[in-house]
Amino acid sequence: MRPTRWWQTGVVYQVYPRSFGDSNGDGVGDLEGIRRHLDYLVWLGVDAIWISPFYRSPMKDFGYDVSDHTDVDPLFGDLAAFNRLLADAHARGLRVIVDFVPNHTSDQHAWFIESRSSRDSPKRGWYVWRDPKPDGGPPSNWISVFGGSAWALDGSTGQYYLHSFLAEQPDLDWRNPDVKHAMFDVLRFWLDRGVDGFRIDVAQFIAKDPLYRDNPPHPEPERLAHMGAWSRQLHLYDHGHPDLHGIYREFRALLDAYPGDRVSIGELHDEQIEVWAGFYGHNLDEIHIPFNFHLLFATWDAARIRTIVDGIEAALPVGAWPNWVLGNHDQRRIASRLGQAQARVAMLLLLTLRGTPTLYYGDELGLPDAELRPDQVRDPWGLVEPTQGRDPGRSPMPWDGTANAGFCAPDVEPWLPFAPGHDRRNVAAQLEESASLLSMTRRLIRLRREHPALAEGVHRTIDGSPSGTFCFLRSPDGDGTHPAVLVALNLTAESRPIELHHGSGRVLDGTHPERIGAAVDTAALELRPDEGLVVEVAG
Ligand code: GLC
Repeated sequence: MRPTRWWQTGVVYQVYPRSFGDSNGDGVGDLEGIRRHLDYLVWLGVDAIWISPFYRSPMKDFGYDVSDHTDVDPLFGDLAAFNRLLADAHARGLRVIVDFVPNHTSDQHAWFIESRSSRDSPKRGWYVWRDPKPDGGPPSNWISVFGGSAWALDGSTGQYYLHSFLAEQPDLDWRNPDVKHAMFDVLRFWLDRGVDGFRIDVAQFIAKDPLYRDNPPHPEPERLAHMGAWSRQLHLYDHGHPDLHGIYREFRALLDAYPGDRVSIGELHDEQIEVWAGFYGHNLDEIHIPFNFHLLFATWDAARIRTIVDGIEAALPVGAWPNWVLGNHDQRRIASRLGQAQARVAMLLLLTLRGTPTLYYGDELGLPDAELRPDQVRDPWGLVEPTQGRDPGRSPMPWDGTANAGFCAPDVEPWLPFAPGHDRRNVAAQLEESASLLSMTRRLIRLRREHPALAEGVHRTIDGSPSGTFCFLRSPDGDGTHPAVLVALNLTAESRPIELHHGSGRVLDGTHPERIGAAVDTAALELRPDEGLVVEVAG
């Protein structure tokens, strides 16, 4: 099935608004700061930006605790600033996707203030309130993703409320039709303003076990070690109830009723590929882009990457379009996870696989994690579980080699420190160099748009390449009329000979740009250490 929609052929770029550009001198990025860098995004060649939350918020979880869904937090600007950003993005052909946080609000949201005011409040049922157990303890053993019980006792009304994240982020009860109506109105508010879609925060959390049963312990807690304390339970009941699907069908119908191909992207964490694939919907009537985080959490090993890619391709429902992610604001930076050399290989993989890539701001520069002193930690999760801190991957974007890197005025303290090496690893420095990761990223984005094999070709993993390598073919058609593209990746730091018998070819791009344009024989190809090659071959 040929991809025809903009979100299938396009590249999504995630902007963390606190860290992209500060226009008003407070050391925190804002909407006007994003607007001022739109030309960079056009130059880079991405098609859409997804902006993490900029709504009114006490910022306990940096905007994922929304206190007013239909207003902009003064830290980021105002609705007029959003309108300017949207209009200027659209004028440049860039789409704008905003974050939708359905599972919880801030405890300072008017709905929750009303809900907690008394057991008889008309909004009591908008959140999940339960009586204590007979011993006075919480209603179930559920734990918050950020650690500790997921239930907080409200002393004045004597009941517990559920918070799957911080206690300042009470969970809404989506089983209450009024909640669904109110939240769908939020979607309409932004759709009416012209946004091109939504990224749905923790999409699996909005339907839980209606009986609130206890979760059993996890038989292999080490499997989810990256989740900290949360890994100790098997999360059968606190999220992921199948009633989710009905909600996302309605969500999708709402989006589809608007003109202009609006898109839904879901944040989904599920180790089971079939469960993940289920979010496309039976008739592809749920989420357009159920985020596929399998590469993000993978051990960086060629056999493992191959298993993931083949597994995803095989699990896709008929007609469903894949997508790939290597980084986001919740994880360590790819360059720190894999090292600079493999970060280039990973970027090449991301931009040549079949499916929509989502690029996290700064990964195109190979930004490593920022190094923080304990007094610089800002992330609430990092304050509770230091190993889980997410600040290192959220450092300000370095635009140039001046003091404060063009992110904020030289005399202002940025909200987080820059990643090390930003005096050299910044946009201005890298756009000068054809060998930089930024230049490679830009070339590959263009190539995937222009080359039919990369834009729409089917995926076929090639058997028999040596250990530590992963090779695949992208073919635009079955009859060999159009050239195919061979992607050969060396995930090791030693050279690897490969013999692929796809005839002679021409290097279109690669991690080592001096190879670009060279003729190669795919039957005797020497992959250099940490090399990724994109080779045009006969179809
Ligand atoms: C998602 C967000 C994360 C946030 C959490 C709670 O996982 O990506 O940043 O803390 O949801 O809203």
